[in-house]
Amino acid sequence: MAIVIVSCKFSFSIYYFLLLLIIIVSQAKAQPNFLRNFCINDNGNYTANSTYQNNLNILLSNLSSNTEINYGFYNFSYGQNTNKVNAIGLCRGDVKPDVCRNCLNDSRVLLTRLCPNQKEAIGWYDNCMLRYSNRSIFGIMEQFPWFDLSNPNIVTEVDQFNRVLGNLMKKLKEKAASSNDARVKYATGNESDANLNFQTIYGLVQCTPDLSLQECMDCLNGAISYITSCCSNKFGGRVVKPSCNIRYESFPFYDPPTVTVVDTVETSPPQGIYLSLTKVLIYLFLILAFFSCIVLLLVFAEKSKSSHTTIAIVVPTVVVLVLLNLITCICLRRNRHSMAGSNLEEIEDDDDIEIAESLQFNFGTIEVATNNFSEANKLGHGGFGVVYQGKLSSGQVIAVKRLSIDSGQGDIEFKNEVLLLAKLQHRNLVKLLGFCLERKERLLIYEFVPNKSLDYFIFDPIKKSQLDWALRYKIIGGIARGLLYLHEDSRLRIIHRDLKSGNVLLDEDMNAKISDFGMARLLLVDQTQVNTNKVVGTYGYMAPEYAMFGQFSVKSDVFSFGVLVLEIISGQKISRILLGQSDQEDLLSFAWRNWREGTITNIIDPSLNNGSQNEIMRCIHIGLLCVQENLVERPTMATIALMLSSYSFTMPLPLEPASSIGGRTTSLP
Ligand SMILES: *[C@@H]1O[C@H](CO)[C@@H](O)[C@H](O)[C@H]1NC(C)=O
Ligand SMILES: *[C@@H]1O[C@H](CO)[C@@H](O)[C@H](O)[C@H]1NC(C)=O
Ligand SMILES: *[C@@H]1O[C@H](CO)[C@@H](O)[C@H](O)[C@H]1NC(C)=O
Ligand SMILES: *[C@@H]1O[C@H](CO)[C@@H](O)[C@H](O)[C@H]1NC(C)=O
Ligand SMILES: *[C@@H]1O[C@H](CO)[C@@H](O)[C@H](O)[C@H]1NC(C)=O
Ligand SMILES: *[C@@H]1O[C@H](CO)[C@@H](O)[C@H](O)[C@H]1NC(C)=O
Ligand SMILES: *[C@@H]1O[C@H](CO)[C@@H](O)[C@H](O)[C@H]1NC(C)=O
Ligand SMILES: *[C@@H]1O[C@H](CO)[C@@H](O)[C@H](O)[C@H]1NC(C)=O
Ligand SMILES: *[C@@H]1O[C@H](CO)[C@@H](O)[C@H](O)[C@H]1NC(C)=O
Ligand SMILES: *[C@@H]1O[C@H](CO)[C@@H](O)[C@H](O)[C@H]1NC(C)=O
Repeated sequence: MAIVIVSCKFSFSIYYFLLLLIIIVSQAKAQPNFLRNFCINDNGNYTANSTYQNNLNILLSNLSSNTEINYGFYNFSYGQNTNKVNAIGLCRGDVKPDVCRNCLNDSRVLLTRLCPNQKEAIGWYDNCMLRYSNRSIFGIMEQFPWFDLSNPNIVTEVDQFNRVLGNLMKKLKEKAASSNDARVKYATGNESDANLNFQTIYGLVQCTPDLSLQECMDCLNGAISYITSCCSNKFGGRVVKPSCNIRYESFPFYDPPTVTVVDTVETSPPQGIYLSLTKVLIYLFLILAFFSCIVLLLVFAEKSKSSHTTIAIVVPTVVVLVLLNLITCICLRRNRHSMAGSNLEEIEDDDDIEIAESLQFNFGTIEVATNNFSEANKLGHGGFGVVYQGKLSSGQVIAVKRLSIDSGQGDIEFKNEVLLLAKLQHRNLVKLLGFCLERKERLLIYEFVPNKSLDYFIFDPIKKSQLDWALRYKIIGGIARGLLYLHEDSRLRIIHRDLKSGNVLLDEDMNAKISDFGMARLLLVDQTQVNTNKVVGTYGYMAPEYAMFGQFSVKSDVFSFGVLVLEIISGQKISRILLGQSDQEDLLSFAWRNWREGTITNIIDPSLNNGSQNEIMRCIHIGLLCVQENLVERPTMATIALMLSSYSFTMPLPLEPASSIGGRTTSLP
């Protein structure tokens, strides 16, 4: 009897748990969150209850309730003179009119909430985009602001994949741009190849239909050429701009083109079917289990003394229940796996234990790879330990960091942190391949980045000439993107705390890759307490509030970024004391004095003789904004990314940087 009840209770609790899980998952999916949105500050703010706000509300509610079939493109204006509001709504080409309207309605509600007073804003969902502004936006090709997303799965047959993808994108862009229906500029298609084992790539490209053929081509060309930067070797990717967007995946993610616009039954994507199938199964099992328990209890109530019947019923029932549990678990697992590969945003559901195992390296393997940690393999003494170059038996070259200081935390915590850090993947971050935990040894295994670090080039009087402005500008952009990812785009908010030229590595194409991120998590440096003894970081790069009081935030990383930018432009170390007018001047006060006196070109590295003055001046300006004393005045990395990518973004004037106000330099040990 007891066994039956326990078993019933057990299976019920599992079913309720699963049911709850499914309900939570399906509700989370229903919550509309933008893929990305930008509140654009350029055009200023409107005040609450102003005519502008009123016009905006009228316009947007008209747009999102518009029942005309506009082929997914809506452009309206409303209001007079300075209070005129312009809005554009664009739905993906395969989206049905009612879905489109709902999507635009959701966008309207969310965008005005997220950007409460901005005159200009833009937001993207999977199915639609909404943007509005006080300036005219109709018929203008715009590439900023934009974002990219990539599917983290890695392609193995890179060359074939890229060739097939290139063909597909070329075909689609021509089809979309030269669309003979002036109301839609949209194309989808697929391409496969015998050399790719007939694996198929699916693509989608779309322009807003107000663009000319040439403008649409230009916009798409820009987006397609960016694939190699955001999504190279990735199974899927998107580049999304105000005027156009592209996406490719290894599974069909769009509905096939329909001839009529009549609403038909929604064709669900494969994972949707899978989920509902699992749901049905679980409901079925729940009902089954319920009835079997009732029957059992009834039988027991009547024949509680007959032990033969008990065994005859209990044994098969327990077996059936256990089997049901097993089947349900397997179904759910398979479901999770099938979704992991297909959805960009759902990558975290992998089996962590399996990953942890695949990330763990054997100490012996690393010993062999690094020639027993030989002196010849030593790359340098980085923060927290010596770094060795190694080569795995597979031929892959790696960098191994042998942690020298006690991490102060247990093996399980260490593993968990490595797992989290290994999930951070971005082309401007050095990739963490795994770890090794054996005999008190703690090793971190990274991808090997061949061209050393930034400080090796920019401070060397001869080597600095190898970095012309175009390269340095690319490096600044790379660092900004990597840091933005750490701060905002990854699931974890990582504050680097030790960003400096020595921690910016350069790959074979001289792309910047940030290293040593997340060390504070791994080494359990006190995260909350004000304790200057445990401050990690490098003096000179540290924001005053961090150096003096141990207070760190994303804004202290922004400070380090600003220092780095000024170093890259000037080719001077922050720590180097320049002999300026006033005897001793460090880089920040030197830059500030020259900025104030209108002689800022003095700080530019003379070897940058033919770089774009415009870009250099903009970067100096950004650098000075980042090193301001008051952290509230420093921009966020998201704003910096925008400043770097959009010339129309007007930047505020910088206030005095930290160093020249005093205190910082004198308080350093
Ligand atoms: C507009 O408002 C936002 C916050 O709502 C603020 O961050 C921004 O500085 C304001 N811009 C101007 C130009 O006032
Ligand atoms: C705007 O108008 C609403 C109602 O008309 C009012 O409750 C609110 O206080 C007003 N806000 C401002 C800032 O005037
Ligand atoms: C609302 O949209 C309709 C078109 O569906 C248009 O005729 C009408 O002028 C719009 N109203 C406003 C206030 O913009
Ligand atoms: C738009 O969304 C709002 C808030 O979610 C809702 O109240 C309204 O009914 C929706 N309008 C349409 C036309 O769907
Ligand atoms: C909206 O777009 C149509 C063409 O698609 C154009 O004729 C019309 O002038 C546009 N309306 C506004 C307000 O820009
Ligand atoms: C938009 O608003 C900003 C700030 O109010 C103003 O400077 C700008 O001139 C406006 N643009 C247009 C086209 O009216
Ligand atoms: C692939 O594209 C061809 C046309 O080029 C089309 O006939 C076929 O249905 C597509 N396959 C899938 C799976 O969409
Ligand atoms: C590596 O060095 C250690 C001592 O430092 C030695 O005990 C070990 O045998 C060496 N292993 C190999 C493979 O040479
Ligand atoms: C960067 O590395 C690549 C490949 O290792 C090499 O060909 C190139 O010369 C290096 N660039 C510099 C500036 O050292
Ligand atoms: C700068 O000079 C190099 C060669 O000296 C040249 O390749 C490059 O195009 C020049 N860049 C600019 C912006 O003039």
